[in-house]
Amino acid sequence: MGRNVLVVGGGGREHALAWRLAASSSVDAVESTPGNPGTAAIGRTHDIDVEDPAAVAELAERRGADLVVIGPEAPLVAGVADELLRRDIPVFGPTADGARIEGSKAFAKEVMAAAGVPTAGYVATADREEAQTALERSAPPYVVKADGLAAGKGVSICDTLPEAREAVDDLLVRRRFGDAGDRVVIEEFLHGPEVSVFGVCDGEDVVLLSPAQDFKRAEDGDAGPNTGGMGAFTPVPGFGLPDAGELSGLVFRPVLRELAARGTPYRGVLYAGLVLTDGGPKLLEFNARFGDPETQIVLRRLGSDLGDLLAAAATGRVRDVRVRWHDDAFVGIVLASGGYPGAYRTGLPITGVDEADAREGVKVFHAGTARAGDGTLVTSGGRVLNVTGRGATIADAREVAYEAADRIRWDGLHRREDIALTASRA
Ligand code: AMP
Ligand code: GLY
Repeated sequence: MGRNVLVVGGGGREHALAWRLAASSSVDAVESTPGNPGTAAIGRTHDIDVEDPAAVAELAERRGADLVVIGPEAPLVAGVADELLRRDIPVFGPTADGARIEGSKAFAKEVMAAAGVPTAGYVATADREEAQTALERSAPPYVVKADGLAAGKGVSICDTLPEAREAVDDLLVRRRFGDAGDRVVIEEFLHGPEVSVFGVCDGEDVVLLSPAQDFKRAEDGDAGPNTGGMGAFTPVPGFGLPDAGELSGLVFRPVLRELAARGTPYRGVLYAGLVLTDGGPKLLEFNARFGDPETQIVLRRLGSDLGDLLAAAATGRVRDVRVRWHDDAFVGIVLASGGYPGAYRTGLPITGVDEADAREGVKVFHAGTARAGDGTLVTSGGRVLNVTGRGATIADAREVAYEAADRIRWDGLHRREDIALTASRA
C-alpha cells in the first residue's frame, strides 16, 4: 500500500508538488490544505488555518496522512513541522528553528560564516550609526535588507549613498516593515547571473535538484518591481547538475553539519539562491522551502518518484534514493493579475485553461485561482497561473509554453514576454 500525503499550501508550487506526488507509484492519495482548484482535481482539499500547528496536525491525524509536505514558509516559521514531529507524523519541512535560515537573514549569515560558505560580505546591526558607517565603507550599488521576513519586499538595491541611507532609515526609524526591520543587513553587491538550487535534505545529507533560473522583476528586461517570480526554466546552460553537485561539499553539507551541531538537524528543502560570480558561485540567501515558480518546472523535469524522495528526507536517508532527470528542457510562464505586485482586482473570469493544458508538452498549474459559486474559474491572487512547456531545447520548451499561454485570457492579464529568451539563444 502506498502513502497518503497531505500537502500544506495553496499556490502553484503546491499544485506542482501534489501533481508530482500523485504521479508517484509510492503514493496512493494526495490531499491538500487549503489547496486550490488545481489540487482539488487531485484530491480532497481542507480549508483550515495552515499557520495553526494544532489544526494542521489534527487534520493530518484525521486523514491518516503518513507524510505531510509543507510548501510555504509561514507554516514552517509558525512551527507546524514541530507539532507534527511531536505527534510522530512524518513531515517534509524544517522545524521553526531550522526555518530561521530563511526567517532571519542575520541568523543565515551567521550559519554561512560558521560553515565557511562563500557569500557576500555584510554587516548586520540594529544601530543606525553603525549601518551608516557600513554604507560609507561599501561601494555602489548598495544592498540594504530588512533582517526579518518582509514578503520578498525587504531588499533595496540603491545606486547612491543618500538613497541607501534613506533605505536604512525606512527600516530602523520609519519602521516600514515593523519588527522585520529591527535589524538591517548591509551587504556587498554580487555581480553575475542568479541560479536557484534546491537541496532535499535529511538532516545530514542532500540530494540536489536540477538548477533553475527565476525571473524576479515584473517587467520585460528585468525592469519594474521585485515579485515572487514571473517565470523560470531548467536546466541552466553552463550550470548543470555536475556543477551544482560541487555545491554539496561547498555549501549544503557544511551548513547541514552546522545546523545539526546547533541541535536543529534540518529536514526539508534548503533552497540556495546563488550568484555565479567571476570568482565562482556565491550564496545570496537560503530559503527553507521550494521556490515558486521554479518548483513547477523542476518537478516536471524529475523522472523518478517524488514520494520516495520526500519520505526519505523526512524519515530516512536521501542518499539511498535514486533520482533521475529527463533530458528535456522546461520553461514556466507566470500569468499574473494586472497591477501585481501592487494592488490588483480579483474575481475575474478566466478562459482557455483546459485548452492550454490539453496541448502536447504542456502542464498548467493553478496558483491564485478560485471557483465562483457557479463553478466558473476566477482570479483570486497576484500570480494566477503557471503555464509550463516541455521541449528538446529551451527554445522549444519556451515556444510550447508561450503558445499554450496565448489561449488563456482574463481582463488585465499580465505576463513577461522574455522568460528564458536569453537562454534559448545560448
Ligand atoms: P533576497 O530577498 O535577499 O533574495 O533579495 C532579492 C533579490 O535582490 C535577489 O534575488 C537579487 O536579485 C537581489 N540581491 C539581493 N542581495 C544581493 C546582493 N548582495 N548582490 C546582488 N543582488 C542582490
Ligand atoms: N522564486 C523565488 C522564491 O520562491 O523565493
